[in-house]
Amino acid sequence: MTQPFASLYVHVPFCAVRCDYCAFYTLAGGSDIQRERYLQRVDAEFAEFAPQAVPLDAIFVGGGTPTHLTVSELQRFLRQIHTHFTLAADCEFTMEGNPLSLTPDRLKIMQDHGVNRISLGVESLNDRTRKALGRPGAAKLVRKAVERIRSANFAHMNCDLIYGAQDQTLAEWAADVAAVAEFAPDHVSMYALSIEPFTPLADRGAEAADDDRMADFWTHGVEALAAIDLQLYEISNLALPGAECRHNVDIWRGGSFAGAGPSACWFDGETRWRNLPDLARWLAAEHPEADTISTRDRAHEILCTGLRLVGGWERDAFHQRTGFTVAELLPDSASALVDHGLLELSHTHIAIPAQKLLLHQGICREL
Ligand SMILES: C[S@@+](CC[C@H](N)C(=O)[O-])C[C@H]1O[C@@H](n2cnc3c(N)ncnc32)[C@H](O)[C@@H]1O
Ligand code: SF4
Repeated sequence: MTQPFASLYVHVPFCAVRCDYCAFYTLAGGSDIQRERYLQRVDAEFAEFAPQAVPLDAIFVGGGTPTHLTVSELQRFLRQIHTHFTLAADCEFTMEGNPLSLTPDRLKIMQDHGVNRISLGVESLNDRTRKALGRPGAAKLVRKAVERIRSANFAHMNCDLIYGAQDQTLAEWAADVAAVAEFAPDHVSMYALSIEPFTPLADRGAEAADDDRMADFWTHGVEALAAIDLQLYEISNLALPGAECRHNVDIWRGGSFAGAGPSACWFDGETRWRNLPDLARWLAAEHPEADTISTRDRAHEILCTGLRLVGGWERDAFHQRTGFTVAELLPDSASALVDHGLLELSHTHIAIPAQKLLLHQGICREL
């Protein structure tokens, strides 16, 4: 890491079982010795990053399933973070939790170590949809996990939802959204099911909903969650005002951040790095992969990641971050996007209209 950073991602590559849709780098089970070696190596990585760290204002521990670590492993892991890094007083400290392993003793340890935001993999509260997704555990386990998070009084809770599984009806999706609204989270991530190559879902030829149905699901989710004051702020993310995920917003705005653990990415302000998605090779401290591109291409990439956000970019902020003006980067074809209502350009801002955000990828291909 060549630049100071205030945001840290840590990847924990273990899960109890692999879900049929998931292509994240993770090992189902993971032996005691693998977890022991993981804890040793991640500690060494923290030590490598620590000299460039300023007091952290965001930490995101994801995976995989961080709560798959045993209680004592989790405690050691969190202590390691505190040993190497100073946390800013209002640090947003997120940890992903799976309903299968979010036990009261784990929640207590997280809280004791400053975790103040739980991101819960809900996915669906309909057992038929869960089966179609290949998501282990019954919906009642999710309700139990929410009760536990609530009684532990975490300041922030995100719920992940997946829509568009094979044969899911709009009514079923609406019931999922309504159930999550009753949990009163301050953040919801709702993802369109993506059939990832080499996953069990792909192997059995499962299909996701087509683009029109996905758009109907998305529109319903956005409208229904507005009733509990959650506002769309990124393609797949809604939050109460002020409860947007700080770590992710930093990344979309092209901020530098550190990343530890196999398959973790990080950005030093110029180059994007990725640890190898292979536990043994990462344990052997093999060199991460570098994505080195020209400063102009990097600026263009940051323009596009910022356009994921409702409100897009303020032109001055973009210039400050990248050294390029928006005008320098925009191709002539941008005016056609504006004419088609797919891009908004003003003297101060560039944005994709909120209701067109699902088309973000296609729009950015034209930019
Ligand atoms: C690392 S997992 C969440 C934490 C924990 N491992 C769990 O599953 O509860 C991150 C999230 O990505 C989303 N996700 C993973 N694979 C996906 C796919 N193929 N399509 C859509 N969403 C997906 C799910 O919503 C999932 O909760
Ligand atoms: S969705 Fe979560 S629990 Fe399931 S395999 Fe992926 S990381 Fe593991």
